[in-house]
Amino acid sequence: MSHERWTPGSWREKPVQQMPAYEPAEALAAVERQLAGFPPLVFAGEARKLKTALAKVASGDAFLLQGGDCAESFAEHSADNIRDFFRVFLQMAVVLTFAGASPVVKVGRIAGQFAKPRSAPTERIGDAEWASYRGDIVNDIAFDEESRRPDPRRQLEAYRQSAATLNLLRAFATGGYANLDNVHRWMLGYARDPAQASRYVELADRITETLSFMRAIGINPEMHQEMRTTDFYTSHEALLLGFEEAFTRVDSTSGEWYATSGHMLWIGDRTRQSDHAHVEYARGIRNPIGLKCGPSLKADDLLRLADILDPAREPGRLTLICRFGADKVGDHLPALIRAMTREGRTVVWSCDPMHGNTVKSGNYKTRPFELIVGEIENFFAVHQAEGTHAGGLHLEMTGKDVTECTGGGARSVSDADLQDRYHTYCDPRLNADQALEVAFMTAELIKRERLLRGAVLPVAAE
Ligand code: PEP
Ligand code: CO
Repeated sequence: MSHERWTPGSWREKPVQQMPAYEPAEALAAVERQLAGFPPLVFAGEARKLKTALAKVASGDAFLLQGGDCAESFAEHSADNIRDFFRVFLQMAVVLTFAGASPVVKVGRIAGQFAKPRSAPTERIGDAEWASYRGDIVNDIAFDEESRRPDPRRQLEAYRQSAATLNLLRAFATGGYANLDNVHRWMLGYARDPAQASRYVELADRITETLSFMRAIGINPEMHQEMRTTDFYTSHEALLLGFEEAFTRVDSTSGEWYATSGHMLWIGDRTRQSDHAHVEYARGIRNPIGLKCGPSLKADDLLRLADILDPAREPGRLTLICRFGADKVGDHLPALIRAMTREGRTVVWSCDPMHGNTVKSGNYKTRPFELIVGEIENFFAVHQAEGTHAGGLHLEMTGKDVTECTGGGARSVSDADLQDRYHTYCDPRLNADQALEVAFMTAELIKRERLLRGAVLPVAAE
């Protein structure tokens, strides 16, 4: 398959899962032609830079933090939302960098994360049964026949929103907000879990002290771009292939094809069949690619997918996003790691502790915080045993004070609290406190991995 000719549209010749049926087809084709004429959202050079950064993660010298909404929505598109997300994301990154003593590659699930795979094609409530909601880029979440009909014009709106979101994120990342001198200011916001807050302030104090020390000895942090700005990248699931095809462009410097809808694209756990359309599309673009790995993925399938998606064994090209469930990591992950290691393949191993830990509480889909933490701990333990690098985290999270995942911290969310602020359009997200708590506990795990790996082990206190 991988030696067949690839074009941005060659996926159309393959079987495909999870794609909505649009009627009439000509309306969809007209929208896709229009999108193909629009400016790209990101540049090939940026995607290459991310690939280089991910190569450092793969070699064990950095950590990947990827996160954002399960599904972005047209209704929740405010500057406040984006700022609150970016702020907690920066806080998490600084915790991982400073407490974990590791460079962090920052990738948002944002500015294009609109299309959702669903387990069932229809949804039934009482006597009514309509098409499933597939994300705002496809149809409307309201439960009636008209709302659930796929409308191609929604793709134009998703493009507009992605462009506006990305514009603000670029301003935050480079226009002063992300300056490390602001490390205390990122704390401002709603009343937080006091334990988490004081832990963060303590760390921010240490950073500020370090910056003052540097100034005192004559190093001006402002002279270093790394102190004033941050590299922030975007990613989403490449599910709606007609949309992706429209944004697949030839890079004028290299002559190669790049997806320009986001820096990193991933293939979902439901659409990773090696001879199907989603894999066909992804193999031809030069961006870094993520692959969701769930419990049904066999080692042989993974090796076949790695051959198709990364034939040149390019550092930083492939990120395996593992989402087994807290109690299943030990059953599935070692075989995948061993197979890849045996083949001499170096990839980014990232942990998605969200999608294997979804449970029902009454009418709500939720995720218990202790299972999320449990999956991360088990992921690190397996990598430690295999001698490989636990390279990243992939989270569904928000900067808002929502009540979607249960448990966590002093302001623990109970099952009864879920109804208070359950705002997600798809899967339950960590709220800002829970996300920060995950960052603190992961920083400890990173630190431990570095100590065990490093030549110098701390001398045991007698
Ligand atoms: C997701 O990331 O929202 C998702 C649907 O994940 P998966 O493909 O791993 O089920
Ligand atoms: Co999800």
